[in-house]
Amino acid sequence: MRAEVGIVGAGPAGLLLSHLLALRGIDSVVVEIRSRAYCEARQRAGVLEEGTVRLLREAGLAGRLDRLGIEHGGIYLQFAGERHHIDFRALTGGRTVTVYAQTEIVKDLIAQRLADGGVVHFSASDTSVDHLTSDRPVLRFTDAGGARHEISCDAIVGCDGFHGISRAAIPVDLLTVRQREYPYAWLGILADVPPSTDELIYAHHRRGFALHSLRSPSVSRLYLQVDPDESIEQWPDTRIWDELQRRFELPGWELKEGPALDKGITAMRSFVSAPMRYGRLFLAGDAAHIVPPTGAKGLNLAVADVAVLAPALAALLTGDERLADAYSATCLNRVWRSTHFSWWMTTMLHRTPGADEMEAELQLSQLRYVTSSRAAATSLAENYTGYSDVRG
Ligand code: FAD
Ligand code: DHB
Repeated sequence: MRAEVGIVGAGPAGLLLSHLLALRGIDSVVVEIRSRAYCEARQRAGVLEEGTVRLLREAGLAGRLDRLGIEHGGIYLQFAGERHHIDFRALTGGRTVTVYAQTEIVKDLIAQRLADGGVVHFSASDTSVDHLTSDRPVLRFTDAGGARHEISCDAIVGCDGFHGISRAAIPVDLLTVRQREYPYAWLGILADVPPSTDELIYAHHRRGFALHSLRSPSVSRLYLQVDPDESIEQWPDTRIWDELQRRFELPGWELKEGPALDKGITAMRSFVSAPMRYGRLFLAGDAAHIVPPTGAKGLNLAVADVAVLAPALAALLTGDERLADAYSATCLNRVWRSTHFSWWMTTMLHRTPGADEMEAELQLSQLRYVTSSRAAATSLAENYTGYSDVRG
């Protein structure tokens, strides 16, 4: 079998790349180990930068996003019993973010690819890549029916997340890896209750960080800092709500409770692997880099990578390698900015187990500065809403 581009993984990066290539008349095959139902149900990120929304709109993918997405012009930072608003619109000349769940983007992308006749193999197994330094790299997999396939490609893109096979196919001595694990995790719930707030609340608390986000006028999304070795079984709904009530407590404000529709615990790490290319294998999204979720950058980075990669692959197929050669450095510039911002938000807001009072005071000082200095608030707002051009 032949395809111009083989894509490993049907997350946001792989599916969007397949669509952006199709807009340029380039055919691709997407291979995914999970079922379509699993991919469409996985609860993950929820905040889109302005550039991400613009890109999805320009690519003709924003029908439901424009109807159901909720534009937000700021966030609240809560600490020491006070809640402060950071007004993105006022600080950045009108920039906003949009709350629209990753699961909805994945549903939109799958529906669009299938409507356009795109090839997506769900529930595949034994994915592997080979001949990566030749100009005919090979993608192999077993399809859901048990048939083995070998696809000869012009290029292969690893969009298979942190635990995928693509990055592992690059000789380890050619990669430079920078990483940090954090001594805490996020417990996330999707709750069947209207949000208790008009904007997201990021709360610093002695008991640990908490975040109030939302998915729709009737569904809330909340996160709690927990120890990384805790299991979800230790957290019945009543314990989760008790803890959320304590961390968000503010006189005159009420946190509404409702049944949990979904619960999960996510480890937190910063990870950057460079370069994002080996011969005719390119990495995009979580396959190449991970940020801790505070600041909501992971999904936006995945979108930015493939926005750079699609024109680079189009040029490569015509024999012009210049954009492909620049791909890794172009993306890593944004990746490192987001890596720093996510680390900064994370370490400002979480309680490090065993940390002394010095750390707590430094965090509070930083939070007071961000909420009282226009320059500091503008820096947060600029990073949170994203950078002017998603492609650069
Ligand atoms: P993924 O979405 O991970 O997609 C990779 C795809 O590849 C998956 O569908 C996977 O099944 C498939 N795959 C893996 N191995 C293979 C293989 N061998 N062969 C074929 N297919 C394979 N970011 C935020 O901003 N906020 C959040 O709250 C947040 N929560 C998160 C919670 C979790 C549990 C995780 C894992 C991530 C979270 N993120 C969050 C990060 C964000 O969701 C990711 O940055 C985003 O999903 C990256 O998209 P991607 O397409 O690169 O990777
Ligand atoms: C969400 C996730 C984040 O990591 C974040 O910083 C804000 C919101 C969310 O899932 O809604």
